[in-house]
Amino acid sequence: MRAMTDFVTESVQKFLKPIETNWQPTDFLPDSQNPDEFYIQIKELQAAAKGLSYDVLTVLVGDTITEEALPSYESWLSRLEGIHEEAETNPWKVWVRLWTAEENRHGDLLNKYLYLSGRVNMREFERSTQYLIADGFNIETGQDPYRNFIYTSFQELATNISHRRVATIAKQQGDSLLSKINGVISADEMRHAKAYMSFIKKIFEFDPNEVLVAFEDMMRKKIVMPAHFLRETGMDVGGLWGHFTDAAQRTGVYTAIDYANILKDLVSEWNLEGLTDLNEAGEKSRDYLVKLPMRLLKISERMVNPVNEYEFKWIGVRN
Ligand SMILES: [Fe+2]
Ligand SMILES: [Fe+2]
Repeated sequence: MRAMTDFVTESVQKFLKPIETNWQPTDFLPDSQNPDEFYIQIKELQAAAKGLSYDVLTVLVGDTITEEALPSYESWLSRLEGIHEEAETNPWKVWVRLWTAEENRHGDLLNKYLYLSGRVNMREFERSTQYLIADGFNIETGQDPYRNFIYTSFQELATNISHRRVATIAKQQGDSLLSKINGVISADEMRHAKAYMSFIKKIFEFDPNEVLVAFEDMMRKKIVMPAHFLRETGMDVGGLWGHFTDAAQRTGVYTAIDYANILKDLVSEWNLEGLTDLNEAGEKSRDYLVKLPMRLLKISERMVNPVNEYEFKWIGVRN
């Protein structure tokens, strides 16, 4: 981690945007300081949101709650080895804070959109958010930076896909504002994915065997999503997770095929097949990892789409 401090300093410049020029949630929302326009814009927003299907709306709410649990992610990244023991001015700490600041806009913007849309029981949404932050998350990566940056690479790509797909579907269903919102968020996620992938790429230069072993270990345990503990009122921890992923799979917003394809992209981005001069453990892990995407793709292609249409408290009765 210390060997990479210059690299991280450059990454802050390269992958994160200055606050002065970065987009803000307000840029996409009705302007409450302009009373003449405000109510007209809200009416337009609500009219467009009426066309969103139940499944897409539930996925959007789940995605928003995942973004809103950002305090958990910041505290988790701050605990990593090579970060937690450093001074506040350390480039890794700067990275974590600036990344958090950028991410904070995602939950802000989506939350405000959902509130204005009139389609969501905001109190239930807020309770689910509070539950998710209170329940925390356990992704079994410990404080190891290798495992955790493999995780963030994976996760940023996954959120890029899901926000991008919601953008496409929202457009098809006549909500161009939501489409724009999800488009701009998904572009952020891609920028972040590139950063975390570059961290791992750099680590490959120093320590290829250990990073391969870490990667294999992560994939054997499977990448657990940050909203794994999702629930709503009256449920045990994680009770809502299956219903949320069912809706994501059904709408095609995020599927088992995407999981396999993300892995495939990471294997090629880090050029696993081209790695030589490895020790025995490293070779074993590399061989396992290069074959895994095809194996997962075959399994996912045989999966049937879930049909159980759950009624979420966030939205209420299906119609
Ligand atoms: Fe995000
Ligand atoms: Fe992100």
